[in-house]
Amino acid sequence: GQTFTILGLESSCDDTAAAVVRQTDDEAAEILASVVHGQTELHSAFGGVVPEIAARAHAEKLDVCVMQALEKSGLSLSDVDAIAVTAGPGLIGGVMSGVMCAKGLSAATGKPLVGVNHLAGHALTPRLTDGVAFPYLMLLVSGGHCQYLVSHGPEEFTRLGGTIDDAPGEAFDKTARLLGLPQPGGPSVEAEAKNGDPKRFRFPRPLLDRPDCDLSFSGLKTALMRMRDQVAGEKGGLTRQDRADLCAGFQQAVVDTLAEKTRRALKLYLEHDPTQPTVAVAGGVAANTAIRTALQEVCAEAGAEFLAPPLALCTDNAAMIAYAGMERFKLGKTDGMDLTARPRWPL
Ligand code: KG4
Ligand code: ZN
Repeated sequence: GQTFTILGLESSCDDTAAAVVRQTDDEAAEILASVVHGQTELHSAFGGVVPEIAARAHAEKLDVCVMQALEKSGLSLSDVDAIAVTAGPGLIGGVMSGVMCAKGLSAATGKPLVGVNHLAGHALTPRLTDGVAFPYLMLLVSGGHCQYLVSHGPEEFTRLGGTIDDAPGEAFDKTARLLGLPQPGGPSVEAEAKNGDPKRFRFPRPLLDRPDCDLSFSGLKTALMRMRDQVAGEKGGLTRQDRADLCAGFQQAVVDTLAEKTRRALKLYLEHDPTQPTVAVAGGVAANTAIRTALQEVCAEAGAEFLAPPLALCTDNAAMIAYAGMERFKLGKTDGMDLTARPRWPL
């Protein structure tokens, strides 16, 4: 049978990554190597990703990642059929670094170049990890994204709804910052919430009065600030328990909102594709146990299968880019040297 081997590059946010993915005819894809260099330490002093620092670090680390990925896979560039790269959306400096690196490799080897939409990478991950057939419903929840997508084909997606302001990961990160907890905020807020009472503080459930699948998370931050200042003002500071209760109340609001909007997205989805429904998640927020459990329950209620890929493939990585590039490549789609980096690129 025919074998496709793709080298993938990712540099759209704060992870520099390279991976080699192979697929033989219709057999499941295999990740031969996946290397991710995070930049958390570089940005930690600034309380968020600094685009200029990110771009420079990507430019420095991309070659290293590519070499490590090839070495781990036991292959050389000549064994690769195509070079896939994230061409957007993301921080423009980082995306440009990746696109330039991929163009250089393509020019030097004569291997075709395939530009990939980062969101398509996330949205196609259930096919890479579990061989899920089209169509399926996807919830993308990360530090930068929040949307419901129906994946119909490698380049065919319908957006059912999404956030109108912050992404949930961003809300977790801001909550941590407001309460003096370490970054990234998701894991630290989740850990605090375990010892907290989710009912003590009443956070809003934004947009539940609207019948659609749109979400909003920026109001939670405002509510949190108000409650924090009120408690701190009364007592002259926050106790450990106050902090835990605030985290628990905040997290419960995110859980309830995501659960209800997923219920609606699933209902919409089932109206069109009622057979063998699968709901998959991607993004760093999918690491949250309370969120996962709630989504699992919503799916069970509706008779849908719930799928959460391994965490390393939920967060930013290049294996998903190599895989999405392979799906495009198999359709005969490649890009030329005029491939451009796009900061905004809706699916
Ligand atoms: O997908 P990801 O690694 O990067 C992008 O945003 O593209 O997601 C990172 C986000 C951060 O905002 C982080 O706080 C959040 O995912 N996160 C979590 C948890 N672990 C990571 N949010 C809630 N609960 C968690 N356990
Ligand atoms: Zn991402």
